[in-house]
Amino acid sequence: MNYRIGYIGFGGMASGYHYDTAMREDVPFTPTAVFDLRESQRTLAESRGLKAFDNLGEFLDSRLFDFVVVATPNQYHCPMVCAALDAGYHAMSEKPAAMSSAEIEQMTAHAKAAGKLFTVHHNRRWDRDFLMLKQAIETGRLGNIYAYENRIHSANGNGQMLGWRKYTDHGGGMFLDWGIHMMDQMLALIKEPVKSVFADIRPIRSGEVDDYAKVLIRFASGVTAQVEVSTFNPLCLPKWCAFGDRGSVIIDECCGNSGKMRWVETAHTDDRENIVYPEGTVSTRTMGFYAVDTVEEAALPLSPVPQDWAALYKNVAGALDGTEALEVTPESVLRCFRVVEAAFRSAETGTSVEM
Ligand SMILES: NC(=O)c1ccc[n+]([C@@H]2O[C@H](COP(=O)([O-])OP(=O)(O)OC[C@H]3O[C@@H](n4cnc5c(N)ncnc54)[C@H](O)[C@@H]3O)[C@@H](O)[C@H]2O)c1
Repeated sequence: MNYRIGYIGFGGMASGYHYDTAMREDVPFTPTAVFDLRESQRTLAESRGLKAFDNLGEFLDSRLFDFVVVATPNQYHCPMVCAALDAGYHAMSEKPAAMSSAEIEQMTAHAKAAGKLFTVHHNRRWDRDFLMLKQAIETGRLGNIYAYENRIHSANGNGQMLGWRKYTDHGGGMFLDWGIHMMDQMLALIKEPVKSVFADIRPIRSGEVDDYAKVLIRFASGVTAQVEVSTFNPLCLPKWCAFGDRGSVIIDECCGNSGKMRWVETAHTDDRENIVYPEGTVSTRTMGFYAVDTVEEAALPLSPVPQDWAALYKNVAGALDGTEALEVTPESVLRCFRVVEAAFRSAETGTSVEM
């Protein structure tokens, strides 16, 4: 079935990415209407043949659409999603879903009461780097993964803390902007319960909002995950590292197409006879050597990994049609936001937060 979209907020993201995606022939959505406070954005919408409104009530009363995409500054996500659901529409909020986990619970309750779908645009679950990492792990060659790192560093040193993104009461700051994507990826990867969160989140150069975050999460089994956002770091470390008891993997950059994995086919032995000591080295038990021919390496991706963010829209359509399970469920969004809140709390108090 084809679903008509009404946009609340038709700024950079909605008029660009969301509109372009819905216009694709293979995406079963059609843009029809816009509500935006700015005349410039309404004029843009009209130039594309969409009906534009400067009033939320009239927009919701129009019945010109089935599905509402909310892409306003973050503090409006919850009230706008709830209004759309209450008016009988399915709704998708941009990330971060809301300003608090309490708001996400509220949105979920409204969706349940209305019998409508509520989801969040966590499109980075379909980023190529993330899919490449999963592909490498799924080979099983790395053994049991005991630690993960996911980071985003700015290649050119220019953080985009402009407009509403500079203000806390608008949900500004890098951690709610990029950090939430990376936290969502990490939790989509590691399904087990989170036990504790320790974080350093603060502004380096961005006034009242954060532009640096390092968060360490410990899961129930003892697996750890680090999420780092460093806006002004032009010496980029790899986007992903994952360390297993048989090997490790590195993915070079966000949405990039390169990385490598290295693993040991023969288990590391503590049998002294089998340890190889290359000529000229000093033997040591703490960093025992692998026989060179037991170490294997592969360039990534192992097979082509397409990046198609429209996969999220296609999944939402499948969920609405009743043919697919929704990928970005309200439960997964809430789980992610609770960890984000714990990270902010840890940064404020300087202590680890038990979950
Ligand atoms: N998923 C992603 O990859 C991604 C990328 C960029 C932005 N985003 C998210 O998209 C959202 C919008 O970001 P953006 O970059 O498009 O911002 P933007 O400032 O370019 O656009 C926001 C639009 O909302 C309108 N608006 C503001 N308050 C409104 C209100 N009360 N009612 C109706 N319209 C209102 C503004 O006029 C503007 O046109 C944010 O939540 C952001 O985090 C997500």
